[in-house]
Amino acid sequence: MCGIVAAVAQRNVEGILLEGLKRLEYRGYDSAGMTVMHRDALTRHRAVGKVAALEECLTDAPLPGRAGIAHTRWATHGKPTAANAHPHHSDDQVAVVHNGIIENFEGLKRELEADGYTFTSQTDTEVIAHRLAAMLAEGVTLFEAVQQTLGTLGGAYALGVMSPQEPDVVIGARQGSPLVVGVGIDEAFLASDPLALLQVTDRFIYLEEGDLVELKDGGHICIIDRQGQRVERPVHTFEYADGAASKGDYRHFMLKEIFEQPAVIRTALEGRLGKTGVPAESFGPDAPGLFARTRQIQIIACGTSYHAGLVARYWLERYAGVPVQVEVASEFRYRHPVVADGTLFVTLSQSGETADTLAALRFAKGLGYVGSLAICNVPGSSLVRESDIALMTHAGPEIGVASTKAFTTQLVALMLLTLALGRDRASGDEQAAMVNALKTLPDTCRQVLLLDDDIEALAQAFAEKRHALFLGRGAHFPVALEGALKLKEISYIHAEGYPAGELKHGPLALVDSDMPVISVAPNDALLEKLKSNLQEVRARGGQLFVFADEGVGIDDSDDDVQVLHLPGVHEALAPLLYTLPLQLLSYHVAVLKGTDVDQPRNLAKSVTVE
Ligand code: F6R
Repeated sequence: MCGIVAAVAQRNVEGILLEGLKRLEYRGYDSAGMTVMHRDALTRHRAVGKVAALEECLTDAPLPGRAGIAHTRWATHGKPTAANAHPHHSDDQVAVVHNGIIENFEGLKRELEADGYTFTSQTDTEVIAHRLAAMLAEGVTLFEAVQQTLGTLGGAYALGVMSPQEPDVVIGARQGSPLVVGVGIDEAFLASDPLALLQVTDRFIYLEEGDLVELKDGGHICIIDRQGQRVERPVHTFEYADGAASKGDYRHFMLKEIFEQPAVIRTALEGRLGKTGVPAESFGPDAPGLFARTRQIQIIACGTSYHAGLVARYWLERYAGVPVQVEVASEFRYRHPVVADGTLFVTLSQSGETADTLAALRFAKGLGYVGSLAICNVPGSSLVRESDIALMTHAGPEIGVASTKAFTTQLVALMLLTLALGRDRASGDEQAAMVNALKTLPDTCRQVLLLDDDIEALAQAFAEKRHALFLGRGAHFPVALEGALKLKEISYIHAEGYPAGELKHGPLALVDSDMPVISVAPNDALLEKLKSNLQEVRARGGQLFVFADEGVGIDDSDDDVQVLHLPGVHEALAPLLYTLPLQLLSYHVAVLKGTDVDQPRNLAKSVTVE
């Protein structure tokens, strides 16, 4: 989703802004632009398509200057055109970059048009530029102009603002969309995400909701909160090595991130396992009290993170005896939920900035939950800061838009939660067996990744297909959903995940020789049921691709079935293991189809608007 970078420095900022935009490419966007203050005037380039197109404009006509703002746009209001790309200017008096949606922009636009302002874009953002220009014309400072304008805006925003009236100043503001301040030596920066600025600093201030910040020449940073009070926010040192955000020798970030899974799963487990269980303290000092009051759980998430929640429901109910509900955030936030006593509110999110998940958490705060737990990959993110307790998944930066290692480390975290809540219920032997299985999980994952060449060969069968069905039963039904989501988002093949027992209630009508059917078949209590469902597919001429335990006895002597065997694993952890071949399958199909694997069309990594 839209990305913001801004800088006020004692050197030329053009390169810093451009590098920042490149580092934000992973968020998803369709056009890019930059405004730099040059000899007290706003100078701007905007280009449709990749940041490389903007870079070409800069090569032809550089924008030197010591203060600037830049942006990657993910279209919401108006098509991806140069005129709609940010920064938006008003009469060369104001330049604005914006992430979010101004919900009341139509009314504001009518008022500004009546006052004689001419709009040159279809965006909601342009109203901010003209409003600021109108305020500046009344003689207020840029800071005051932004402060007063914010009072008139409804919706969500992160903003970067400049004006030649104060050429060495950049103003930032956040309400509902992420924005961090990068703290340099005698220089200061803004960005949607710390990754954008790691080339210039590793020290960051995470702005709070409603904060307004002024960056001035010399590294001066002044923050006021939503009450208009001057505040000092803590400066955090970013913990990832800069190399973690590069592709290394891999062709795509997604492939690198798939292969990182054994290592990051190990990191996610580090220091959190006891000998025969998981202490509640692994979730922080406040967790034991909160868990003691927990009688049921409400899990809220979006997309892939939602699928992790669905797997966790099977685990928490079976191994911890805790009733669980799971819902997508965009639905939950507009329902009127009835909250049972002792319900813990759990959010799952890679980014910690997903607008719907954050809104659901804020909505939940007034509803009587015993508390909130965020399972998240980004320290310092809004979700982490606004939850009562948080468990970090430690997957490291995930750059590929399609979530892979974030999902499997979420599953690890959710298994830890299951074990922590199930301490008094499950037998010591059962807990110890699961702890041991977790300890060997990284190695078992490594063995599965050795199947990469076989899966690449299998992918050939999908390159010409237009549809695919994914089947699973029990905790593998969400794995099927996740397999289908991965395939559709990066290869653009229409794919659906189904609980295999539902086939005969409708989707079987779709099965013919053109419909590949992928199934995960671990050796569990539902195996025989699943095998009957797979027979129903074969009887209709369907092509079956099965990922199965050794010795499950699926006959693959005929051409209509291909079976790939996975190593054995504790039944509870099978959903995690069986996700890996589905990730690899989607990846190889997408490579064969020549799609943009890391930045699939129309999608954004961090969905910061509703
Ligand atoms: C799919 C994918 C998305 C995200 C979803 C939630 O591969 O990545 O479905 O899972 O947008 O994002 P987070 O987890 O950041 O809240």
